[in-house]
Formats: sequence, C-alpha cells, structure tokens
Amino acid sequence: MSDIDLKEKWLQHYKTAPAQLEKMGEVNGLISAFNANVDAVIKVSGKSIEKIINDNKLDLSRILGEGENSIYSNEDAIRGFLQCFREGKAEEWLIENKAVFNWLNETVGYDKLQMGGQGGIVANVMAVCGVNSVYVHCASSPKEQSQLFLDLDNLLTVDENGEIAQASKVDRKNDLPLIHWIIEFDKGDTISLDGKLYTCPKANRFIATYDPLNFKLHIDEQFSKCMAKDNVNSEYIILSGYQMLHENLKDGIKGASKIEASKAMIKEWRKSCPNNLLHLEVASTQDKVVRKHLIDSLVESVDSLGFNERELIDILEVIGEEELAAKCEANINAVTMFEGMLKVYEYTACPRMQLHMFGLYLTLQKKGFKVTPIQNRDGMQLAATIAAAKAGTGVINTKDVLLWAQGHKVSDVGLNELSNLQNFVSEKFGENRLLDTGIFENESIEIIAVPTILIEKPVTLVGMGDTISSVSLVGAR
Ligand code: GLC
Repeated sequence: MSDIDLKEKWLQHYKTAPAQLEKMGEVNGLISAFNANVDAVIKVSGKSIEKIINDNKLDLSRILGEGENSIYSNEDAIRGFLQCFREGKAEEWLIENKAVFNWLNETVGYDKLQMGGQGGIVANVMAVCGVNSVYVHCASSPKEQSQLFLDLDNLLTVDENGEIAQASKVDRKNDLPLIHWIIEFDKGDTISLDGKLYTCPKANRFIATYDPLNFKLHIDEQFSKCMAKDNVNSEYIILSGYQMLHENLKDGIKGASKIEASKAMIKEWRKSCPNNLLHLEVASTQDKVVRKHLIDSLVESVDSLGFNERELIDILEVIGEEELAAKCEANINAVTMFEGMLKVYEYTACPRMQLHMFGLYLTLQKKGFKVTPIQNRDGMQLAATIAAAKAGTGVINTKDVLLWAQGHKVSDVGLNELSNLQNFVSEKFGENRLLDTGIFENESIEIIAVPTILIEKPVTLVGMGDTISSVSLVGAR
C-alpha cells in the first residue's frame, strides 16, 4: 500500500473519534489519585539563565560538576536545568530545601500557573471529556490550586468538612500550595558558561518540584473514606504520584510502606465496583528502590500500565534487563521499545500495558482482556486526536476544542515506526497487518499500534503522557 493510501486508511480509522468521545459520557465514575499540584510554567532563554548565574554570583564549578539528581542549593537547580538544556531532555528533580524554593520564586518567577501533577491533569481531561463523576484526590487544596481545576460540576474532591464538592470551588484555607516549576527551553537556544557554548538540541523542560506532601504520598483520609462508600461507583481508577517517593522518607518512614498502605486503601475503594479497571501511570521514578517496589508489589494488583520510552527503560533497569535497557537507550524506536514491553509483560504479568512514544502509541495486552483490540484502537485514536488538540491549541478546557485535530493525517514518523514494528512482529509471531489495521492477535497476546497526529510546533507538552494514557483507556469502549 502506498503512503498516501495508508494515510487515507488511517484517516478512516480515526473517524470513530467523535463517537468514542460521546461514549465517555457513559462512564459513571472515575477516581484520579494521588498527585495534584500547581505548575508554575516559565519559558527561559539561555541568556536569562546566564544573567541569573552572574547576578547571584553562583558557583560555576558546582553548576558544571556532577552530583545527585536533587536540589539542595541554588546551584543544584541550575545544574539540573543545564543538564536538560544541553541534552534536550526532560527531567524532574525534587527541591529538598525551602530556601531554594523561595529563591526560584524571586529570581525565576513564572509566566503562568496551571493544573499540574498526573492526578490533577487526568482529572481535568476526564471531566472535560464528559465522564459523569470524576473524583480527584488532592493532598492539599488551597484556593490557588483549586481554581486551576476546570469549572465543571462533574469534577469533584472533598472540601474542608470532608464532604464531596466541586473541585474548583474548594478552599481548604490551611492547606499549603504545592508548586512545581516547569522550566521550558527552546531548541537551538544557547548558553555560554565558563567560556563554553552549549546549544540546546531539542525543546524540552526541566521540572524543579517543591512538594513536601506529595513527596511522601500524603493521602487525605477524608477523601479515602468517601471513595470507599457504596455510592461511589468508580469504573476506573487512575493512579499516579508514586514517582516522588524515596526509599527512606523523613521520620524513618519507608517509601515501600507508603505504597503498601495505598494498596490496602485502593482495595477498599474497589469493593463497590469490583469490575473496575485500575491503571497505573508509571511516571519518572528516580529512586530505584521505589521503582522496583512499584513493579514488584503494586503492579500485581493493577490491570493496566502506562509509560513513555524513558519510563519503560527505567523499568527494564530494575527487573534484571540492564542489557536490553542499554540497547533501548542507544536506539529508541518502536522495535526496541516493543522488545522491552515484552519483557515487562513477562516479568509483571500485568494484563495490559501501553507505551506512548513520539509518533506512535503501542498497547500490548493479554488475549481476551476485557477491552477488545478494536476498542483499544478507537480509544488510542481519540487520545491522539485530543493530544494533538492540546499540542496545537495549548488548552483543552472546553469540549468543543477536543476534536480540533479531527481530519489531520497521521505522521510519517508514526507510519515508519509502525512499518518496522510490523516487520519485527512478522519475524517473531508471524504474518500481520499492523501497518494498515493497527491490530495483531495470536492465541496469547494482542498488540494494538496507532500512528499519531504530530503537531509541527507544539504550544505545550506538559501533561501529554497523562492525557494520552487516560483517554486511550477510558475512551476505549
Ligand atoms: C510531574 C510534575 C508535574 C507535571 C506532571 C506532568 O508530575 O511534577 O508538575 O504537571 O509531571 O505530567
């Protein structure tokens, strides 16, 4: 089939997007937990960072030197930024010292505040897509954060009295604002330090996070109690926020014990709706002990996993697949990623997992999983359509903008990746038509792969993965 025909074929497949979006309105309840926070977004230039370094007389050797991926000093914050800038990569480091938080506030500032955290972002997306009751957990809910939730009456959390209330209207006055700095930079920008010029190869972001509550996976008891009630019928539970945990937390508490406590709680939530789907958005978990514990302990109870390329490689690193992780790292493409997914599938036995990468989404699931391959494909196409609307317009705050990208053709990048994947799957499992149908199944597994719509100059990338994973799953009906 020629490329033109293929694009035409996918355009036909994508035509189901509006109907899938309508079907999301049939979902009664969904819980999005645990992390919601305020994102303070700022676009910086290399020049402005040079100025901050000079004005504040920062120690260059500590900015250019090695160190752990956490922020104890002002230099650490700039060191993290510089690493991302010069490699064009995305990373998130935790601010361990309140003084650095104050310093960033004064020197870097922000352009805009928006809803952040996987839990917060997913909740907004699910609510605007029409899910009937979206319950979002907030470790903290001061007005500054609540007002970043969409003003929708189907988007709920608990108020200061422990009652369910519209999330955007809650004002828990004594709660602390949890702020994450999203420091974005442009491709081609330069920064000159110590006589050396660094050029940024890819637009991306560095996140510096001050969040003492979500750091320790603080769970609001009132929320948890409400979610265990019989009238909360959550057909889906979408989890995230574990990525901020450390092996050892302050006060001698172990990260692992927090994970275990949450497991017990989620079990209670599931009682009123035993057939619900539990999804974990893996996210970038820096602490390897926590990462391993998540994979070994939490994943056994989840039905579905979501990750990007980086997060998949991170998983491989802790399940004894260091060699494959290195191979993936050296060459990130649909084939190496799929090989990685097969290993994660084997290791965890999780019945569904989805990767979102540049140009392609890929789902691997157990034969006969309750979401069929075609439902998955439809959900993934809706997700790609909505993600393109987010990239193209910057905001998906109203229902009418969600299908903004409807009618755009899928990308060449995605089709190339899919074509390579088809060949690989042919060698490994036999003949298939992944390239034009996006679906392959045999007696034990189902593979669903969808080339996505790419937007030339994305207005934003923050929260893209969360949007893709949640819409792919809940839109798969
Ligand atoms: C991480 C960041 C958060 C951001 C989110 C986007 O959770 O801490 O600030 O909104 O990623 O996925």
